[in-house]
Amino acid sequence: MEKVFSRTINNGELSIKNVGEKVKLLGWVSKKRDLGSITFVDLRDRTGIIQLKIDNSVHNFDEVKSEYLINVTGIVNKKDVPNKNLKTGEVEVEVESLEIINKAELTPFIIDDNTDALDDIRLKYRYLDLRRPILQRNLQIRAQIVKSTHEFLDSHGFLEIETPCLTLSTPEGAKEYFVPSSVNKKQFYVLPQSPQIYKQLLMISGFERYYQIAKCFRDEDLRADRQPEFTQIDIETSFLSQDELLKMMEELLEKIFSDTIGYKLKLPLRQMQYDEAVNVYGSDKPDTRFDLKLHDLKSILENTEFGLFKNSKYIKGFKVEGKAEVFSRKYIDNLADLAKKFNLNNYLCIKYENNAFTGSLSKFITPEIGEQLINEFELKNNDVILIAAGDIKYDINFGLGALRNKFGHEFNLIDESIIDVLWVVHWPLFSKDERTGEIAPEHHPFTRPCDEDLPKLMEHPEEVYAYCYDIIMNGYEAGGGSLRIYDGEVQKQVFNLLGLSDEDIQRKFGFFINAFKYGTPPHGGLAFGLERMTMILSGTDNIRDVVAFPKNLKARDMMSNAPSSVTEDTLSGLGLAFLEEKEDE
Ligand code: AMO
Repeated sequence: MEKVFSRTINNGELSIKNVGEKVKLLGWVSKKRDLGSITFVDLRDRTGIIQLKIDNSVHNFDEVKSEYLINVTGIVNKKDVPNKNLKTGEVEVEVESLEIINKAELTPFIIDDNTDALDDIRLKYRYLDLRRPILQRNLQIRAQIVKSTHEFLDSHGFLEIETPCLTLSTPEGAKEYFVPSSVNKKQFYVLPQSPQIYKQLLMISGFERYYQIAKCFRDEDLRADRQPEFTQIDIETSFLSQDELLKMMEELLEKIFSDTIGYKLKLPLRQMQYDEAVNVYGSDKPDTRFDLKLHDLKSILENTEFGLFKNSKYIKGFKVEGKAEVFSRKYIDNLADLAKKFNLNNYLCIKYENNAFTGSLSKFITPEIGEQLINEFELKNNDVILIAAGDIKYDINFGLGALRNKFGHEFNLIDESIIDVLWVVHWPLFSKDERTGEIAPEHHPFTRPCDEDLPKLMEHPEEVYAYCYDIIMNGYEAGGGSLRIYDGEVQKQVFNLLGLSDEDIQRKFGFFINAFKYGTPPHGGLAFGLERMTMILSGTDNIRDVVAFPKNLKARDMMSNAPSSVTEDTLSGLGLAFLEEKEDE
């Protein structure tokens, strides 16, 4: 007969209401403390931890060790002193009988939320790492986001449609993964960086409201908020204006925030113009939970005798309140690595102490200029102004923005009790590299230029704005999208502006451009990054904490050790061969 292991209640559900009941529980031994006459065991299942109490004069369960899987029967008792750290802390279960279902070897690290185990070890034994309550909770939040999304979109007339993972290259900007085909030797599929083209084609097919919990793949440098494969809540609609679409998406977010962590999102969400985000916060994903706003200082400082200020096209800065003593020479020098990442070579700081400016720049601050700075920043003693000057606007803004973010976190200027959610809207259609003059799409080449800017498209593309929006949460880009070009001619013009000839366009996207000839509806959409949203709602700043089996920063799965080599035979079956290794000269 099949041996059955059963429970009458989940561990995390036990409460004062169950006192006096006889219960049967299942779980892993999280902690065991033998106090002589009594042994306490913390028993963990996916719902939580309950304390078991074992009377050593009656039972001998010495054999039971950490991470053993056990089945116990016992009586629920009220604890004399509740354990405030446990959800079930008001009660404990007095064990009557205990059966070992499966033993466990000594685990490579202690399975606890407060682990100091090295990342690579945790990733190698990810199935054990995932037993940690915090990761269980994060993945529950992730699943709830998906569930709420299905509920909301299903009830708003959206149809879930799957699009292929073996596809063709699309011009969305990220480096792609290639998959060789053995049927079509020497040819490769591309894994989608997003379902962008397919979802637009579905609008041409007349579905009007599409969504997909879509796997996306990007072979890019990894960061704390980037994985090579990730998931989008991908959405596309026909006939909605930008305002109508954003309003509907806000209601989706409102439901997700409420269903997952009971957070009440205040609607309508704030909309910030792209230009304000970049000029005032130094970022296209501004964290507005703290101030440190950038000021344009050109008109004040260009009049100094300081060469850099006299000769720079742009001079900007922000004030850090009351931190003069922190900004030592060494501290300022240590900012160089971060600043350099943003090509910010010329940054300086002026301190205001004892009603006077100090620091090497102070000799250039005449009483008149000093007065203007005091007024501009409402300076008080011990304030610091961090200043950057140069000729490349992008570097000044984004460099100062990076420093702003660093100080916001370092000086605890952030109110962690709020989740800062806003739209950044009205993006330029293209970004222009100030050094090379080259243009590239800010979002992707399917983004629709604002109607009033269309006449400028071919002559002054860099002046054209677009119906484009990102959703920003606590300074993370949690999603983004745009209304799309629905006129085949305009789409062709944008490709031309990006340097693609008509032949290139036909060869690469002929199928897409052709589809535009058959009554394309006005359409638009967006994609939320499921992991980014889960990060925000579970309060972690590492994307690996919300992915069951993540890759490390070198795009390697430490558990399975993927990616792996292939044999010459496998390659030749695909019509491929390794390159000859070059002999050392
Ligand atoms: P975009 O490229 O902005 O837009 O991607 C949408 C959202 O996906 C998330 N994201 C990532 N999350 C984890 N790891 C990554 N490597 C990664 N890359 C992106 C971000 C981002 O905001 N097709 C368009 C959407 C549209 O126009 O409808 C697109 O993919 O949260």
